[in-house]
Amino acid sequence: MADELRAAHPVHVATLSLDVAAPEAPAAIDAALAAAGGYCDLLVNNAGIGVSGHFAGLPGADVDQLLAVNMVAPTRLMHHVLPGMRARRRGGVINLASLGGFAPGPYQAPYYASRAYILSLSEAVAHEMAPHGVRITAVAPGPVSTGFHAKMGADRDIYRWAVPAISPETVARWAVTAHNLGARVVVPGFINNVLALFLRLMPHRLTEPIQGWLFYPRNR
Ligand SMILES: NC(=O)c1ccc[n+]([C@@H]2O[C@H](COP(=O)([O-])OP(=O)(O)OC[C@H]3O[C@@H](n4cnc5c(N)ncnc54)[C@H](OP(=O)(O)O)[C@@H]3O)[C@@H](O)[C@H]2O)c1
Repeated sequence: MADELRAAHPVHVATLSLDVAAPEAPAAIDAALAAAGGYCDLLVNNAGIGVSGHFAGLPGADVDQLLAVNMVAPTRLMHHVLPGMRARRRGGVINLASLGGFAPGPYQAPYYASRAYILSLSEAVAHEMAPHGVRITAVAPGPVSTGFHAKMGADRDIYRWAVPAISPETVARWAVTAHNLGARVVVPGFINNVLALFLRLMPHRLTEPIQGWLFYPRNR
């Protein structure tokens, strides 16, 4: 990815491999930025993992890891960079959430709950940071064509063919455009915006059986 970016654009690209959920991650990022003579102007909390299956039967370690990567890490990193952005009166954060953040998702329950948390946290902190010139945008895509679903063994579940997937490039374009325009929540893709409206307006008691049917782990 770094090589592609260097080849396509006149930019300096530095990479850093780290576990974002490790307590020392913010300090490691600070050190790498300082070594490159930079500071954090835009934080993108993109790392995320899913789990699929009956909640009661999920391995506890998998649930712990999901909470650490999807909730603790983005919260900690955002909390770490915001004081500097507020002092500079510029900068921003893009947090990857999901369409799933708008309604509970049986059989992917902790993942959906983690994305609801990110939506709520982002919108609230965006309100607090707006007077300081700092923008925060939560991105809520529907299915995206990456290896994400296969990694949690859900690639053959009904939602994978019932809901069309969009490309990661489309998600990135919508995310950056929305962030530059100052949007606090963006749902990439037109069909996904219709789905988001449906999930936001319908009572959960009605969406929950539909979601349960879509995410039921049929092949496991
Ligand atoms: N795919 C979808 O349908 C979809 C829909 C809505 C929202 N999202 C969200 O979009 C984001 C990106 O997902 P994706 O589809 O690109 O998934 P992906 O292809 O599985 O990529 C996830 C990325 O997160 C990284 N990661 C996981 N745990 C990490 C850790 N502890 N420390 C550092 N990096 C870690 C992975 O690195 P390694 O490869 O090194 O493991 C990988 O690069 C996630 O937050 C996800 O919740 C995805």
